[in-house]
Amino acid sequence: MKNTPSSTAKSSILLSLAVLLVLNAPASCSSDSFNNVLISGYPLNAGGSLVQGKYNFTMQHDCNLVMYESEVVIWSSQTGGKGSNCSLVLQNNGELFISTAAGIIVWRSGTGGEFGHFVLVIQSNGDVVVYVRHSVVHRHL
Ligand SMILES: *[C@@H]1O[C@H](CO)[C@@H](O)[C@H](O)[C@H]1NC(C)=O
Ligand SMILES: *[C@@H]1O[C@H](CO)[C@@H](O)[C@H](O)[C@H]1NC(C)=O
Repeated sequence: MKNTPSSTAKSSILLSLAVLLVLNAPASCSSDSFNNVLISGYPLNAGGSLVQGKYNFTMQHDCNLVMYESEVVIWSSQTGGKGSNCSLVLQNNGELFISTAAGIIVWRSGTGGEFGHFVLVIQSNGDVVVYVRHSVVHRHL
């Protein structure tokens, strides 16, 4: 397992981790077809990765969420050792969080907003962007 020193973390990824209100997000996104997308409701479990070109966004077994660029750490959530079997979850309000197996939330993206159908995409330039495809606001059942 790789070390992820916090000194190597860059702020650029966090800054681009913003909810963009894009009404026509890539229509071809689906949970099965791409390995660079995370759909709300489908957690990225410990050991899982999203990959786009030279970028590898991994939910590590040590609970650290790390973005590698050609195997060099360019960003991490700095949550290594905070729990076991952690998973990255995209909530249906656009908020990303890391939860331990015990259900303790150890990191939040702070991008939550209105409810909708969200997709996290690792873009070809390594940016991590959360798109909302269709907002359902004040829906009454
Ligand atoms: C991404 O990183 C993980 C963890 O280091 C590794 O297991 C996986 O093979 C990598 N995937 C790619 C496509 O490089
Ligand atoms: C983590 O997952 C492994 C494999 O599923 C399981 O054996 C282990 O008990 C889990 N640990 C915790 C703390 O949930």
